Amino acid sequence: MPSSDTLDAIETAETIDDIRSRFFPVRLPGAGSGVGRCVDEVTFREAVGQIYASVFPDRDAYPYRPKSEELVTQYRTLHQERILMEDGEGNLMGWLKGRMADPDTFYLGTSGMLPEYRAQRVAALCYVKLLEYLRALGYERVTSEHHPSNRTAMIFQLKHGFSIEGMSLDERWGPMVKMVRFFDKDRQDEFDRRFGFEQYPKGV
Ligand SMILES: CC(C)(COP(=O)(O)OP(=O)(O)OC[C@H]1O[C@@H](n2cnc3c(N)ncnc32)[C@H](O)[C@@H]1OP(=O)(O)O)[C@@H](O)C(=O)NCCC(=O)NCCS
Repeated sequence: MPSSDTLDAIETAETIDDIRSRFFPVRLPGAGSGVGRCVDEVTFREAVGQIYASVFPDRDAYPYRPKSEELVTQYRTLHQERILMEDGEGNLMGWLKGRMADPDTFYLGTSGMLPEYRAQRVAALCYVKLLEYLRALGYERVTSEHHPSNRTAMIFQLKHGFSIEGMSLDERWGPMVKMVRFFDKDRQDEFDRRFGFEQYPKGV
């Protein structure tokens, strides 16, 4: 069930833009007190393209190239969020990006911080804000996928209340651990009822 906060948002008929403006831009701590701001696809691609190889230096993904512009256009009509994290001088520190997977689920597709800005809880603060925002929009679940050896990313997700929900084998990215975060207690309770094991304490 949507939380009462969510119902408020639905009942007041706020648009996505209205709700976004309550959460972003967000002031970031550490490294020069920067800002996290939502941008359009072109701005995102241009900015992230400059630092992507520094965040993922040994990327071995097998890329796909869409054959149809029309399919790309259709896909882009789904709700998406692209967040740039910049330091106090406007230098790009990192990004978060995701999209609607279905009306209940937001899929966090990619995130990264330049090495010099990691472990300062800058990404964490922006991420918490994104989760609050997604909850206010009415999503009930957030999902992500990580290579099994990406311990940092999975620990980061676990610390933000995610559970492991499965594994996929994807020719583009290799093996991926699937993770999910529930906003509503009844959904988390159902997950625990089906998959929990009493001798272990429940997750946060
Ligand atoms: C994943 C990533 C965005 C996290 O950013 P970050 O700057 O390291 O995260 P933060 O400093 O905000 O850390 C937040 C929490 O994660 C934990 N964490 C981060 N790195 C960790 C590590 N290597 N081991 C254990 N915990 C770690 C921190 O302990 C912190 O928790 P705390 O606040 O309770 O101490 C960043 O590490 C990154 O860019 N990695 C490379 C790209 C990548 O793998 N992206 C994800 C692809 S799926």
